[in-house]
Amino acid sequence: MPRPSFTGDVQCLVRHHCSRMRALPASCIDSKTKVMLSLMYRMVVSGRPCARGLCVRQYNWSPQQLSADANFHSARPNECPRILITGGLGQLGLGFANLLRKRFGDNSVILSDIRKPPNHVFHKGPFIYADILDYKNLREIVVNNRITWLIHFGVLLSAVGEKNVPLARSVNITGLHNVLDIAAENGLKLFVPSTIGAFGVDSPRHSTPDLCVQRPRTIYGVSKVHAELMGEYYHHKFGLDFRSLRYPGVITADAHPGGGTTDYAVQIFHDALKTGHFESCLDADTRLPMMYADDCLRATLEFLETPNECLTMRTYNVAAMSFSPAELVEEVRKQVPHLSVEYKLDPLRQAIADTWPTSLNDSRARQDWGWKHDYDLPALVSTMFALLQGLDHRAAKAN
Ligand SMILES: NC(=O)c1ccc[n+]([C@@H]2O[C@H](COP(=O)([O-])OP(=O)(O)OC[C@H]3O[C@@H](n4cnc5c(N)ncnc54)[C@H](O)[C@@H]3O)[C@@H](O)[C@H]2O)c1
Repeated sequence: MPRPSFTGDVQCLVRHHCSRMRALPASCIDSKTKVMLSLMYRMVVSGRPCARGLCVRQYNWSPQQLSADANFHSARPNECPRILITGGLGQLGLGFANLLRKRFGDNSVILSDIRKPPNHVFHKGPFIYADILDYKNLREIVVNNRITWLIHFGVLLSAVGEKNVPLARSVNITGLHNVLDIAAENGLKLFVPSTIGAFGVDSPRHSTPDLCVQRPRTIYGVSKVHAELMGEYYHHKFGLDFRSLRYPGVITADAHPGGGTTDYAVQIFHDALKTGHFESCLDADTRLPMMYADDCLRATLEFLETPNECLTMRTYNVAAMSFSPAELVEEVRKQVPHLSVEYKLDPLRQAIADTWPTSLNDSRARQDWGWKHDYDLPALVSTMFALLQGLDHRAAKAN
């Protein structure tokens, strides 16, 4: 194995961490953190790793060899987290793996799923089969790879969940129980995303606060409220470092959505470029909270790196923008003026959307750990087109 070096990547990591820490309220920076910060600064300035040892090791994970690697046995407590992502081949998993690998090194993150990974994913970094319903196998992966952070993305989303309630109940609730127990037993930091779908008709619909009545009417929403409460319970009962963010509908150019109610807001970009015709499954005026994937994943990483002392809750709302299909169409037509639109409502998705908030109040996230979004609707639309046109261009060149 090559000797670890203090690379530009690590300097970059340290700089980013320092600037994040400076952005936090002074009360959140304890004396240990101050010592770490000054050591980090010295490392950045001198370009040399310090004797106390920070995150400079490179682990030798490979997709083919994930267990019993001697390098893991000499790891020290202050080193980079070793991260497992469940359900990693969905809409968000690979994007988050990329972000975490940039931050902590390519081999610090194992992506897992029950599906076969495409070539480009398999060769990009460690991948392993993990069914969250198989408790023993999941525990073995966590133990053998000395996992310290568990990012739990394995799920059945709202629309697909309603079509197969027993499976959704099993994956979303039994799977969560497995993950909670393994995280608690092994002292992991556990992140389980929640959703706007955790609210319901009895919640305030506009500027929905973090704490209010939650009576969702989908198995997906019910399972997410369950996850929020169980995570909070495990935190108080067993000291589990459980964290959750209620994501809005997430929009990304990298992956196709996995059967959620807000999927239309991704589909429109593909249709606008491919056929110039878009069929909306939601009514023109159905406003929902939305977020560009880069904001969502950055929020997640920043939240995970926030010291525990700064957090006043275990589950926070995060928000960026809210729009309806009609408002999105208007913005998309600035780039594709000939786009034709038909509203062909899907009764299942429309019924779900009608019970969800139109906007979220995320002031606690902004106050406690400095959350701030970058993308509004115009920025989202121009970025999506730039990325998708770039991808088409590359595909055409490759053919
Ligand atoms: N995408 C969004 O707009 C959005 C919005 C709010 C919250 N979230 C949350 O973010 C997380 C990731 O969402 P996503 O959009 O990537 O979901 P997705 O549906 O695209 O992906 C889920 C993945 O879970 C995997 N999976 C299913 N059963 C499994 C099992 N038994 N064991 C292991 N993996 C299994 C699937 O193969 C799939 O790859 C989820 O917790 C979701 O609730 C997503």
